[in-house]
Amino acid sequence: MKIICVNDYDDMSKKSADIVVSQIILNPESVLGLATGSTPIGMYKQLVKAYEDGHIDFEKITTFNLDEYFNIDKTNKQSYYYYMKKNLFEKVNINMENINIPNGMADNIDEECLEYEKKIRDKGGVDIQVLGIGRNGHIGFNEPDIKFEALTHMVKLDEQTIKDNSRFFDSIDEVPTTAISMGIKTIMRAKKIVLLASGKEKAECIYEAIYGNITPNLPASVLQLHPDVIFVIDKQAGSKLN
Ligand code: F6R
Repeated sequence: MKIICVNDYDDMSKKSADIVVSQIILNPESVLGLATGSTPIGMYKQLVKAYEDGHIDFEKITTFNLDEYFNIDKTNKQSYYYYMKKNLFEKVNINMENINIPNGMADNIDEECLEYEKKIRDKGGVDIQVLGIGRNGHIGFNEPDIKFEALTHMVKLDEQTIKDNSRFFDSIDEVPTTAISMGIKTIMRAKKIVLLASGKEKAECIYEAIYGNITPNLPASVLQLHPDVIFVIDKQAGSKLN
């Protein structure tokens, strides 16, 4: 595991974007695993800038997002599909046929999950997976006590997560309580992982993820077992490490 501790959110965004930019330059047909939430927004801005400056080309890139809320349509502003469109996809030359986000409106969720896994496999797997981290240590929407061997599946969101995500909704009652998420096994199969964290509210889970026991109680702790993982964190998120 490599830990890159930078000054602030902007530096975290630049550093993590640099890692993704290098991946795209080295392999313009890369398969990217993407995250949503507030943390990677700055990184997406940097990726858009790198595209506008002519450093990277998304034409042959494929993406797989980590998760999507259950029962929320693509057109809903709270959907992760909408988030990705606004923050990245409509700003770069990605082929919309190459973007993949779990369909929270699928009639048969089990089939949707199996199909999602198959699509990832058929593409040869994820080359680089971007992750955020929840305050309870979740990655994707794999909440504490998840089974490490889980593949893409339907998850029930933790109370803490619902509370944390309520900042994006008008009221907490509107926050979906279930989602489809890549499982821990799906995430661990990525060839390279870059986890981003910013702010002091992430300090505890970052400490536990890096130095704590490897346990489903703190899903991100499993990353200690991955052969190629980089934590790009700012000073506040890293404040418990020294
Ligand atoms: C998002 C995701 C989540 C978030 C996590 C942190 O696709 O899978 O694991 O990365 O909840 O969210 P923020 O960045 O909003 O603190």
